[in-house]
Amino acid sequence: MKKPFMIAVTGGSGSGKSTVVDLVRASCPSIPILVLTLDHYYKDWSHLSPEQRSKINFDHPDSLDSHTLCAHIQQVARGERFYRPSYDFTSHTRSEEKVLVEAAPVVILDGIFSLYFEEIRSFFDLKIYLDVPSDVRFIRRLRRDMETRGRTMESVVDQYLSTVRPMHTRFIEPCKSFADLLISWEHHNSTTIEMLASIIQEKSQMA
Ligand SMILES: Nc1ncnc2c1ncn2[C@@H]1O[C@H](COP(=O)(O)OP(=O)(O)OP(=O)(O)O)[C@@H](O)[C@H]1O
Ligand SMILES: [Mg+2]
Repeated sequence: MKKPFMIAVTGGSGSGKSTVVDLVRASCPSIPILVLTLDHYYKDWSHLSPEQRSKINFDHPDSLDSHTLCAHIQQVARGERFYRPSYDFTSHTRSEEKVLVEAAPVVILDGIFSLYFEEIRSFFDLKIYLDVPSDVRFIRRLRRDMETRGRTMESVVDQYLSTVRPMHTRFIEPCKSFADLLISWEHHNSTTIEMLASIIQEKSQMA
């Protein structure tokens, strides 16, 4: 199998990465697209007490198991299957279950650090940064975390000010310079989705 067409989608938390990836996938139903998310690649913190785990800075790239991530990106680029880890967000531990991931002609990596690690950056044929003002991202995150993750406003605000915002400025925003494409995703934008879908259609025919 030829090397898959590989896309990295990054941008700050609440920029709409997962939304864009879902919309693009829905726009190309006949193309097998493998979506990988960085969410499964957090380090296993089972050796820490619950109190210590609650203090982990999940907005810092050191919270990720970049070694396993890089190994898997290399495998997927060679068209190989692999077992990815599963991560339990409630306990901050890696689950026993490993999920078999099959190769595909198109691969998308979704996550705030998908352009951060130098070891994997060169594997991506298209590097996308969703550029959304921080106030809009904060409002989206507040809504999502309160509505779907049962969080209080105070805890979302505290986390935003203590880790999300400073780590964004330090680690995520600089990744803009690695991107091929800066996409404004402040509003729903069907032209963007159509454009990405047509790139995928064209490239997957060549794969
Ligand atoms: N263009 C848009 N306009 C309005 N709301 C949007 C838009 N795109 C996404 N959202 C909403 O913003 C919230 C965050 O989007 P999403 O979960 O896709 O962001 P993300 O970048 O994947 O965030 P995270 O990095 O935290 O995983 C969701 O509730 C989503 O429905
Ligand atoms: Mg997401």
